[in-house]
Parts: sequence; C-alpha cells; structure tokens
Amino acid sequence: MKFMTAIVALFVGIVSRVATAAPAPVARDIWDPTILSPNASTVWRSGEAYTVVWETADQPKQITNPNGFIILRSGDIETPVLLAWDFDIRDGQTDVVVPNVLTGNYSVVLFGDSGNWGETFEIIGPSGF
Ligand SMILES: *[C@@H]1O[C@H](CO)[C@@H](O)[C@H](O)[C@H]1NC(C)=O
Ligand SMILES: *[C@@H]1O[C@H](CO)[C@@H](O)[C@H](O)[C@H]1NC(C)=O
Repeated sequence: MKFMTAIVALFVGIVSRVATAAPAPVARDIWDPTILSPNASTVWRSGEAYTVVWETADQPKQITNPNGFIILRSGDIETPVLLAWDFDIRDGQTDVVVPNVLTGNYSVVLFGDSGNWGETFEIIGPSGF
C-alpha cells in the first residue's frame, strides 16, 4: 500500500508539473528580420544596383503587413531616402539602386511589420563627394 501511494504521488507530481509548464509560445505578428547584406564588409557605389538580403527562416506564420520598404540611415538618423518599396518582406531580398549620396557610412532600415536596421557599411558617392 505504501508503495502504491508513492507511485500515485509520483504520478500526480508529474501530471501537475506538466499542467503548470509554460504555455507554448504564441506566434507573434512582430518580426525584426536580420539584415545579412549590406553588412560591415559591404561597399556600395552610387548609381550601381545591389541586392539587400535578410533572414527569412525566423519569420512568423502570420504577417499583417507584408509590404516592405527600405530607407537609408546615417548615424542615428533615418534619412528620408527611399531605397526600395512595394516588395514582400517574406521574399528575403530586394534590389536597390544606390542614390547619389555623400561618401560615408550608412545602414539600411527594413520596414514591414516592424523595423530593423543592418550593420554599418560604406557608400562611395559620386566622384569628388
Ligand atoms: C555580407 O555582404 C556581402 C555583400 O556585400 C555578402 O556577399 C555576404 O554574404 C554578406 N555576409 C553575410 C554573413 O551574409
Ligand atoms: C566609415 O567608418 C570607418 C570605421 O569607423 C572609418 O574608418 C571611415 O573613415 C568611415 N568613412 C567615412 C567616409 O566616414
């Protein structure tokens, strides 16, 4: 009898532990895709075409707003320069043509369900700038 009681107690203990385990994570409709390119080793030149690439493996099942746009960031400032728009953020990439900007360090900011910026990289502007 003592043995049975111990077994039952053990079983109840396991069941209650399972019951109080943390609920499975709910798919969140917020996604900050990691930007793979451009990155710290990238150099862009004004007037040239490049592809911005971001991670898609971690995307949520449900995305409220798949319409993405990309702007250029300079230091801590998000510039009003639009690099790309009207693409699906689930695609993981979009092509851009680099506008004429002063030579310097920039990053790109990808907007969709939320915003995320990539590593700082260099853009070489028109010659003399
Ligand atoms: C960094 O960007 C370059 C293109 O500028 C790309 O070829 C390379 O794969 C990127 N690195 C990573 C880790 O994605
Ligand atoms: C970009 O950043 C690098 C590393 O901080 C720096 O050496 C370089 O001078 C910067 N380029 C410009 C044009 O400011």
